Amino acid sequence: MAKRDNRYVCQECGAVHAKWMGKCEACGAWNTVIEEAAPDTAPKGVSSKGGRRLDFHGLEGSMERTPRRVSGIAEFDRVCGGGLVAGSAILVGGDPGIGKSTVLLQVAAALSDKASVVYISGEEAVDQVRMRAGRLGLAKAKVALAAATNVRDILASLDAPDAPDLVVVDSIQTMYIDTLDSAPGTVAQVRACAAELIRLAKRRGMTVLLVGHVTKEGLIAGPRVLEHMVDTVLYFEGERGHQFRILRSVKNRFGPTDEIGVFEMTGSGLVEVPNPSALFLADRHGEVSGAAVFAGMEGTRPVLVEIQALVSASGFGTPRRAVVGWDSSRLAMVLAVLETRCGLVFGASDVYLNVAGGLRISEPAADLAVAAALISSLTGQAVAAETVVFGEIGLSGEVRPVGQMDARLKEAAKLGFTKALVPALRRNGSKKGADRDTAIEARQISRLGDLVALFGSGQRPARNRESLSAQ
Ligand code: TYD
Ligand code: MG
Repeated sequence: MAKRDNRYVCQECGAVHAKWMGKCEACGAWNTVIEEAAPDTAPKGVSSKGGRRLDFHGLEGSMERTPRRVSGIAEFDRVCGGGLVAGSAILVGGDPGIGKSTVLLQVAAALSDKASVVYISGEEAVDQVRMRAGRLGLAKAKVALAAATNVRDILASLDAPDAPDLVVVDSIQTMYIDTLDSAPGTVAQVRACAAELIRLAKRRGMTVLLVGHVTKEGLIAGPRVLEHMVDTVLYFEGERGHQFRILRSVKNRFGPTDEIGVFEMTGSGLVEVPNPSALFLADRHGEVSGAAVFAGMEGTRPVLVEIQALVSASGFGTPRRAVVGWDSSRLAMVLAVLETRCGLVFGASDVYLNVAGGLRISEPAADLAVAAALISSLTGQAVAAETVVFGEIGLSGEVRPVGQMDARLKEAAKLGFTKALVPALRRNGSKKGADRDTAIEARQISRLGDLVALFGSGQRPARNRESLSAQ
């Protein structure tokens, strides 16, 4: 038998390399390239013989409404775009132990009185899942439970006219197809198993929820290799130390993306948090320097979070810059603009930035709030407690308008904020200032210097200046 050439596949992004390498050239991940058996047959060219002529349609015409199954767990339903679509495949990714099995068992149980639901666990024995169901108070739910890892068995059980409406497969990395040489969890297996299960879902009109562990080591394939195959990709995020968990949609063929659902992990499972802003701001203690409340948007929903900064004299030759919950290169940019355009000096100080509550922010609209927290920490003057801040900062020190100002201000007003620092509206933009609609006094900041001027003289306290000039 001729020896087949093996290939080297990155378990993170699925890129195929001719030789082994420590760092994947495609995605830059380290230690994720492993050897896999090459597929048996190379694809051959096809001719049109035996093919069927396609029916072409216009863009206009009657459509079938996609019926959605609503679980009643509102935070989950919203992230899915208003419920689960029949015949769709949803990938739920996240770090191990973050709560994927818990949330999906809760969703499965919630749907089980309206639909037939199957939960297939490849990681836990039936008794373990039962124990969790007992702990969650869901032992009575009509969920059909099975422990299985062979996709052939799953197909044999589910590929029938009386197929269930919803199938949870926990996790895709434990599943395998016995005709493939590779071990379970490799890119080849994960892709083949997912393709088989997705085909089953389309054929029988069932919704399939696939759990995918995010992995750092690259021993098993990450959920990213499946993102293109499924209809919806949800990531479950959160810091282990925090009890908040955020379910975020990063792709959705049936709804908006970047929508979030917020949960709290408790002793009896995940509990919905219908008003995340109140939760993220719950631990604020009056006016302290180095904190600013950012009125952000997560998908269609406004979310208020506290941004905390600490600027302290550095004991090291190279000052430290540490960021939790925000982009560190964005922090470097805001610091550079504050130094160059406003004359503040951070060069010899350590700078720490933290988004309270474990949320990760990716919006540039947070720039102005970050700047306010930094200036506040530097000058020792607090931002007034009832103030929210948002706006994007440009490299020349200008503050740019951001989207959905009205929604942000409304949410702030709802939570009792009375003042806002906002970008100046474009002159040709509609003049219906949100400040008139809501009870908030919105102060327009057009240049970063205007923000610095709000903090007294905008100068460093004398103590810090001395330590600087001493160097
Ligand atoms: P799990 O759903 O097993 O995570 P995943 O499937 O993403 O690997 O969640 C495991 C963690 O959740 C575990 O550390 C214990 C915690 N947990 C609770 O705090 N309360 C609960 O009611 C449950 C079921 C789990
Ligand atoms: Mg699990």
